[in-house]
Amino acid sequence: MLWGMYAEFFGLKQDPFSIAPDPRYLFMSERHREALAHLLYGIRGGGGFVLLSGEIGAGKTTICRCFLEQIPEQCRVAYIFNPKLTVGDLLRTICREFHVEVKHEGTGPATIKDYLDPFNEYLLQSHARGERNVLIIDEAQNLTPHVLEQLRLLTNLETRERKLLQIILIGQPELRDVLARPELEQLAQRVIARFHLGALNEAETRQYIEHRMQVAGLRGPLPFSSQAIRRVHEIARGVPRRVNLLCDRALLGAYATNQARVDRSVVDKAAIEVFGDDPVPVKNSRRLAMPQAASLSLLGTLGIGLVVGALVAGALFWLWNQGSQRPTAAATPPNPAVTAAAPADTPPAAPAPRLEPPIGQPDPSARSGARPSRRTTPAPPRNRRNCSATAPTA
Ligand SMILES: Nc1ncnc2c1ncn2[C@@H]1O[C@H](COP(=O)(O)OP(=O)(O)OP(=O)(O)O)[C@@H](O)[C@H]1O
Ligand SMILES: [Mg+2]
Repeated sequence: MLWGMYAEFFGLKQDPFSIAPDPRYLFMSERHREALAHLLYGIRGGGGFVLLSGEIGAGKTTICRCFLEQIPEQCRVAYIFNPKLTVGDLLRTICREFHVEVKHEGTGPATIKDYLDPFNEYLLQSHARGERNVLIIDEAQNLTPHVLEQLRLLTNLETRERKLLQIILIGQPELRDVLARPELEQLAQRVIARFHLGALNEAETRQYIEHRMQVAGLRGPLPFSSQAIRRVHEIARGVPRRVNLLCDRALLGAYATNQARVDRSVVDKAAIEVFGDDPVPVKNSRRLAMPQAASLSLLGTLGIGLVVGALVAGALFWLWNQGSQRPTAAATPPNPAVTAAAPADTPPAAPAPRLEPPIGQPDPSARSGARPSRRTTPAPPRNRRNCSATAPTA
């Protein structure tokens, strides 16, 4: 097994790009710092919601962990990170996290009120002790609008100066879309701060890689060439988790081939191993090479040509067929272009197909009392050689 074996090869004490949330590896880019500042502002604010959104793997949870370590004494925090919950589950979890005892009497399941009453009581007492209460919900993009609405109701309890519960919602970009829904307008109006954690820029990606390598014990120069780092940034789109995956695999690749330096080609190979066949952002993708693209468009053109040809042939056949059943129109000759399409020994065309009504629905062509006919268009005479195989369905 090669995993973890390259550390020594590159003069490191540990794997630098583990995706485990290890606080020693925390890299405070400008944007991560700002995200943290927003969370800290959130607990000083007067209640309501604080929103931290960001791309998958951008570092939201990492920043949240860092924030949890800086929480002041008088702050009580509950952290919920897997909120695929119903309202009942959510309230139960919140009460448990804040150590609120829920007394449920009666035989049926606990009601919302069974949770809300003791929780509100707790918030009042806590406020009287000079404490602040913060509820953090990570991966909040998983909350349903119904549960979000219930959360809003939790923030309703307030004194004259401020609300008694501060809620921090952390989630992927779709969280912003959920909050933009009209039915969540009331919640959206209670968001006192929002921050979107974007991806690292190229310079930050380089610093991020350097930082992690140094924390892992690197003393000499970075084993990545500049081009390799540019490529990592491009493929990972500046998303830390993707950078980790890619750099880890690239170091492993270089180690496996006994190269002391990671160059661009090593990164490209690693990218395919980690992200699959098309790891490059679409605008840079050269997967659809010209000959393939050309042959595809040729196929498309041929396909369209065949369909159009078939339709024209069908329409002409139909016109001619109609005419041949009326003696006055029989003189109209078939279109030679169409007849030429069928060689002399072409077998007679299949009867014109007709769309049947869906099962269980009356056939509109059936007259009352008459047995529903499976055909309304007369079959073309068997001796007509010029019948196109794609006879019209008129
Ligand atoms: N600022 C950072 N410093 C060091 N490592 C980081 C940083 N941000 C992210 N990472 C690395 O990227 C990994 C993913 O980060 P994290 O789990 O915080 O992302 P996320 O935004 O919460 O992702 P998801 O949307 O999947 O919840 C972390 O385990 C860590 O290894
Ligand atoms: Mg996360």
